[in-house]
Amino acid sequence: MPEFDFDVIVIGAGPGGYVAAIRAAQLGLKTACVESRETLGGTCLNVGCIPSKALLHASELYAEASNGSLAKFGVNMAGVTLDLDVMHGEKAKAVKELTGGIAFLFKKNKVEWLKGHAAFTGPNTLDVAGKAVTAKNIVIATGSSVTPLPGADIDNEVVIDSTGALALPKVPGHLVVIGGGVIGLELGSVWKRLGAKVTVVEYLDQILPGMDREVRADATKIFKKQGFEIRTSTKVTKVDRSGAGATVTIEPAQGGAAETIEADVVLVAIGRRPNTEGLALERVGVQVNDRGMIEVDHSFRTKVPGVWAIGDVTPGPMLAHKAEDEGIAVAENIAGLTGIINHEVIPGVVYTHPEIASVGKTEEELEAAGIAYKAGKFPFAGNSRAKTNRDTDGFVKILADAKTDRVLGVHIISSLAGTMIAQAAQAMEFGATSEDIAYTCHAHPTHSEAMKEAAMAVTGKPIHI
Ligand code: FAD
Ligand code: NAI
Repeated sequence: MPEFDFDVIVIGAGPGGYVAAIRAAQLGLKTACVESRETLGGTCLNVGCIPSKALLHASELYAEASNGSLAKFGVNMAGVTLDLDVMHGEKAKAVKELTGGIAFLFKKNKVEWLKGHAAFTGPNTLDVAGKAVTAKNIVIATGSSVTPLPGADIDNEVVIDSTGALALPKVPGHLVVIGGGVIGLELGSVWKRLGAKVTVVEYLDQILPGMDREVRADATKIFKKQGFEIRTSTKVTKVDRSGAGATVTIEPAQGGAAETIEADVVLVAIGRRPNTEGLALERVGVQVNDRGMIEVDHSFRTKVPGVWAIGDVTPGPMLAHKAEDEGIAVAENIAGLTGIINHEVIPGVVYTHPEIASVGKTEEELEAAGIAYKAGKFPFAGNSRAKTNRDTDGFVKILADAKTDRVLGVHIISSLAGTMIAQAAQAMEFGATSEDIAYTCHAHPTHSEAMKEAAMAVTGKPIHI
C-alpha cells in the first residue's frame, strides 16, 4: 500500500495549476488536480484572458465596420448592426472549446480531476468535498479574485466586476470604470467600441501603473483621442444605486470638493487579491505576507516541507504566462529536475488598440536602481508598414546598459505590440545587446523593423527618422 494517494495534488486548475499537473504527470508522477469550478482553466480561460480577448477581437471588428474608418480604403459599409447575443455566443464557444481542451489533456496525461473545494486538514492531507486525500507534494495554485472597493458593492447588474463586464446583456449608455489599469482599459475598450460612453476614474496621477512613463503618457493621449474620458488623481468615495443606474461620487485623490457622475453601469477594476481564504493554511503553518500572498523560494517551496505555491497566489505579476511557466518549473522541481524561470523577463501586454507591451525594466526602475542606461526610441510614424496601413500610433523604446549595451527593457505601443514583444523577450533571454538587434536582418515591410530602428537609435543612428 503506497504511503500517499498521489505523488502530487495541485489545488486549482488555472494556467498555473493545470500546467503543473500535466507536466508532473508527464514526468511520471501520480497526479491529481482539485478544481471547484464546473470547468477547468481557472480565471484565465473561464472569465479572464480568453473571453476578454474574444470580446476585444469581435468589438474591434464591429468598430472598424461601423465607424467609417474603412472608407478611406474604399471600403464603404452600410447597415452594419450589432447582434450582442451572437457576439457573446461566439465568446462562449471559444471558452467551451478551450476549457474542454484542458479536460481532454487531463485524460490524455492521466491527471485525475478531483471536483470540489480543497482545504488542508494536515501537512499532506486535504479535504476535497468531504473526502480525505493525501499526497507527498501539494501545490497551491488557487489564483486570485477581484479586490472589492468599500462603498461599491458588486451586484453584477449595475455595479459589476470583470466577470460582469464580460457578460453585459446590452451596451450601457455610460460606463464608469473605477481603475485605469489593464482590466479597466481592455474592458472599457470593448464597451466603448460597441457604443458606450466610457469614463475611467483613476486614483493615481496616470493610468497603467508600473508601466514606463512615456508609455503611460502616450497611451493616455491615444485613449483620449479615441474618446475615453480619463479622470486621474481622482478617487471614488461611494457608488449609490439610483433608478436603473448608479450615482458615482468622486473627489480629488488628495481631498477636496466632491462631485457626482451618473452611470448606467459601474465597473470596479482596482486590482486582484490572492485566493487563500478557505484553504485552512493555518492547519499546516503556511503563512501569507502583508499582501495576502504566499511567499516561496526560488524553487516555489513554501516554508512547509511538501507544500509548494505558484501563480497569482504568489508575489509577482498576475499573468497567465507567468503562472504557466511556474507550473512547469514547480513540477520539474518536484520530480527532482531543475525547473527554470527568469522572473526578470516576463512580458506584459495590454490588448487595447493599439496594444501596449513591455518586458524588463522601465526607465524609472533603472533610475531607482542607479543603473546607467541608454535609450533608443523609434516612432511608428517612421515605419513604412505602419504608414501603409494608416496605423502610426506608438513607438518602440529599447533601454540598454550604458556600459555593456545589454538590453534591459523594451516598451512598445503598436497595434502589433503583443506579438512583437516576444522578439524582445527572446533577445533578453539570450543576453542580447542593442547592437545584436540592430544587426539582425528584419523583413521589410513589417512593424518589427521599428524594433531594429529603435536598437539603432540606442547608439544614435536610425535610418528612417
Ligand atoms: P487562476 O486562473 O485564478 O486559477 C485558480 C483556480 O483555482 C480557479 O479556477 C479557482 O476556482 C480554483 N480554486 C481556488 N481555490 C480553490 C480551492 N480551495 N479548491 C479548489 N479549487 C480552488 N493574464 C494574461 O497573462 N493575459 C491576459 O490577457 C489576461 N487577461 C485577463 C482578463 C481578465 C478579465 C482577468 C480577470 C484576468 C486576466 N489575466 C490575464 C490574468 C490571468 O487570468 C491570471 O494571471 C491567471 O489566470 C492566473 O493563473 P492561476 O493558475 O494562478 O490562477
Ligand atoms: P491593475 O492593478 O492593473 O489596475 C488597477 C488600477 O486601479 C490601478 O491603476 C490603481 O491605481 C487603480 N485604483 C486602485 N484603487 C483605486 C480607487 N479606489 N479608485 C480609483 N482607482 C483605483 O488591476 P486590474 O485592472 O483590476 O487588473 C488586475 C490584474 O489582472 C492585472 O494587474 C493583471 O495582472 C491581470 N490582467 C492582465 C491582463 C493582461 O495581461 N492583458 C488583462 C486583465 C487583467
